[in-house]
Amino acid sequence: MHRPRVYVTRQIFPDALDLIEKSAGLEVWPDDEPPTPEKLQEALADVDGALINVMDRIDVPLLDAAPNLKVLSQVAVGLDNIDLPEATKRGILVGYTPGVLAKATADLAFALLLAAARRVVESDKWVREGNWKISHHPMFWLGSEVNGSTLGIIGLGGIGLETAKRGLGFDMKIIYHSRTRKPDLEAEYGFEYAEPDRVLAESDFLSLHVPLTPETHHYIGEKQLKKMKPTAILVNMSRGPVVDTGALYKALTKGWIAGAGLDVFDPEPIPADHPILRLDNVVVLPHIGSASIRSRREMCLLAARNLLAGLKGERLEQCANPELYESLGI
Ligand code: DGY
Repeated sequence: MHRPRVYVTRQIFPDALDLIEKSAGLEVWPDDEPPTPEKLQEALADVDGALINVMDRIDVPLLDAAPNLKVLSQVAVGLDNIDLPEATKRGILVGYTPGVLAKATADLAFALLLAAARRVVESDKWVREGNWKISHHPMFWLGSEVNGSTLGIIGLGGIGLETAKRGLGFDMKIIYHSRTRKPDLEAEYGFEYAEPDRVLAESDFLSLHVPLTPETHHYIGEKQLKKMKPTAILVNMSRGPVVDTGALYKALTKGWIAGAGLDVFDPEPIPADHPILRLDNVVVLPHIGSASIRSRREMCLLAARNLLAGLKGERLEQCANPELYESLGI
């Protein structure tokens, strides 16, 4: 019987690799640095399946060079690195990992929100640099109150919903905009649906949870930032290009908004000398939204199961192009 060949483009949790190895011949990219497009193309040239990372660009030249590929299994919820229509056209199933990472990512959205609101990073640095000379002063280190404020959510998918639920724990009013309105969630949690302009204008904290698509590229630009409150804080846990970085820099330096918490950047990694990193009113993280041990392990295991299901000609637990099932007869 044909033993399928699989390429895994990063080191992942060993139990996920073990699972794959039981049913397939396995090769793993050995370095922490991602493979170049040429190396990736070479690695995927003869394989039946690949377990891939958000930074691996899966485009037409790569797909042309990988004629045996039956399944691509992404260890992430975002799919903006994959030319999904092209994969679908070629009958390649694409797996991904929504759900298992939503709670961990929402936890970190709240960490950014709280850190930016209460100036956690800025004051930590100030203490460590030896600046704390006066023990307490009523007017020092004032920040924004989180409890009782309004949290705006753009994109009420799995992560947006978990972030909104955390807001309820802080007695926040939740307003949201999403591609599809969610009357069941409005009824269950008291969320209020609003058009984007109202969400921008009324939010004390605005948290972005939309996928990166041509429609959401620079969804937040100068025009949108100018509609926000000068006291507002923007949190981006989605993808860097959802926000126009130049416009955000202007907004943060000209006082159109008060601060930002950013886990994602455009470009990524953000160069260390980028002017936005010099601003005290910005809290930054290196794209680690889902990086809890539990979530990342579950993501790797789910991605491994998706991969194996696709290789066996079965339905995936989480499939981004289930419209293929009919033509593949599964
Ligand atoms: C995702 O799941 O899309 C994250 O950005 C990667 O962990």
